[in-house]
Amino acid sequence: MQLENGKYVINGASVEDIAKEHGTPLYVYDLKIIGERVNDLKTKIGAYKNTKFMYAIKTNYNPDVVKFITSKGIGIDAVSLEEVKLAMKFGVAAEDIMYTENNMTDAEMDETEELGVLINFGSISRLKKYGQKYPGNKVSVRFNPNVGAASHATNITGGPDSKFGVSYEYLDEVLKVCEEHNLTIVGVHEHIGSGWLGLEEPLVAMDVILDIARQIPTLEFVDCGGGFGVPYKEDQEPLDIETLGQKFNEKFTAFCEEYGRELTLKFEPGRFFVAEGGHLLTEVNTLKDSPNGKIFAGTDTGMHHLVRPAMYGSYHPMRNVSNPEGATKNYDVTGNICESADFFGKDFPLNELREGDILSIDFAGAYGLCMASNYQFRPLPAEVTVDESGTVKLARRRQTFEDLYNFYE
Ligand SMILES: Cc1ncc(COP(=O)(O)O)c(C=O)c1O
Repeated sequence: MQLENGKYVINGASVEDIAKEHGTPLYVYDLKIIGERVNDLKTKIGAYKNTKFMYAIKTNYNPDVVKFITSKGIGIDAVSLEEVKLAMKFGVAAEDIMYTENNMTDAEMDETEELGVLINFGSISRLKKYGQKYPGNKVSVRFNPNVGAASHATNITGGPDSKFGVSYEYLDEVLKVCEEHNLTIVGVHEHIGSGWLGLEEPLVAMDVILDIARQIPTLEFVDCGGGFGVPYKEDQEPLDIETLGQKFNEKFTAFCEEYGRELTLKFEPGRFFVAEGGHLLTEVNTLKDSPNGKIFAGTDTGMHHLVRPAMYGSYHPMRNVSNPEGATKNYDVTGNICESADFFGKDFPLNELREGDILSIDFAGAYGLCMASNYQFRPLPAEVTVDESGTVKLARRRQTFEDLYNFYE
């Protein structure tokens, strides 16, 4: 979103006009920015010549966003059967999808098998059940490398306290189960958490998974997961993807030489691709003073549409789209949900807000609408995309009361 002649635009399209035409609250995705971030990772993190990216579809499964990303040669990392089926509806081939399971049911296992999608097993228990039913098949195994990193403690997925994957200490047991059922391990996987900005933990995790990989002669790929962080705060140092890509390349090239074969190196980014390109537009409809000098700016959206700030105190930059020249004041920006946790920012500096102004909550493209709910029986917002030339397209219509009520009939 840029300021041009005193008006905020996305690729030339007026943000206020988009809000007027499609109403608020509204998720807007800038495909140009998403394309740039995809390109950044492909060129920098993909320094090793045989790298394959799998988009973590859980981050944002808007059809136009997903199709745009997969059109750039990116596969899909799914974490539920429904995500697998959604990706297939969007035209992704079974061989370009991997399903990283977590507490998979027998029915989910059978349907995934029928669809021909590779399962990345997160427990020895499920691996055994799969081996008993489908001996002789190919599998991938998610290992917990005993190292974790994330932007918030709740988003760490590696280390002894994490529920995810099979501990690296149980490798022998994994090998035994696979031998018993004649399963071929074609992939090993680790994912240490979401939103990390440092280089140390992902490189340590890669060392651990490569140590495991050395002991499995049948591999086709090593998957180092996602988690590439983005700087939500203006003063945050961005992730050094150039250096990280070089180091991944060095380590993996050396590994493949020793292994005797060139394997595929996979990554599963979600947030890095889509966070920055997404904006949640909302109308400020209620300004309220407090005796202690605070000004509450009440919006027509809330934690049911963007839960990250209420859920783990995450920061989102915001801007007043309607009054970019206004004097700066500090506001507590609140949602319309009847919960005290429902804030988007406290003491947040914004150009003066007036009732009716459009506020943009930025960096909202990742873990936004996909984590939204109908709490307090409120409908979900619409979503639009804006392409490179500024063409605005409705990608998902706004829910209605009837959409929700129909479940009871
Ligand atoms: C297995 C797996 N892969 C990839 C991702 C994507 O993470 P991120 O959006 O931080 O890149 C996640 C999300 O936590 C995940 O659970």
